[in-house]
Amino acid sequence: MLRVAVMASGGGTNLQAILDAIRDGAITNAQVTAVICNNAGAYAVERARRHGIPAFIVSPAAYESREAFNEALLQTVDACRPDLVVLAGFLVKIPAPMIETYRNRIINIHPSLIPSFCGVGYYGLKVHEAALARGVKLTGATVHYVDEGTDTGPILLQKAVEVRQDDTPESLQRRVMEEAEWVILPEAIDRIANGRI
Ligand code: GAR
Repeated sequence: MLRVAVMASGGGTNLQAILDAIRDGAITNAQVTAVICNNAGAYAVERARRHGIPAFIVSPAAYESREAFNEALLQTVDACRPDLVVLAGFLVKIPAPMIETYRNRIINIHPSLIPSFCGVGYYGLKVHEAALARGVKLTGATVHYVDEGTDTGPILLQKAVEVRQDDTPESLQRRVMEEAEWVILPEAIDRIANGRI
């Protein structure tokens, strides 16, 4: 059974999609054993508690320096003994020592078709604002392995979503989540858990 630690910063709808997929049998051979958040107010924490999954808060504000926070984050992840770390809307840069320790065992969901609208500064709603500003007709989501760069690791899965004439950043964000993110993130975990990556 693959032990999955999910890291999230906000609403946790991708976490929810993973939990639903496990419940429905769309993900097999995996269990979410921990949720790690950088923000105690994240609704992802509430979702974890409702499912009886331990939630850990590691907030940069609680530490004297970035180094101390990075160390605490790695210690928290280590204590969960994950086989796979899933960044599901985790908006903090993963420290290099953690990437080194968990090489090829950290995946991230990004709300665009990488290499478009990714890298430093492209997260959350900003990604969809940029896609609309550029006037692309197709966008989507990407699951990729995490390396030292920002959104530069090997791509695992992508799914395209059509942009509509009347889309707002919010409506596009919602459709990219529903049609792409909540589909390919559970699928990537299922593939990894069953040796199909
Ligand atoms: C998702 O759209 C995810 O793709 C994005 O943050 C949102 C989190 O939503 N991640 C990034 O932008 C990473 N660069 P959620 O908390 O409801 O899953």
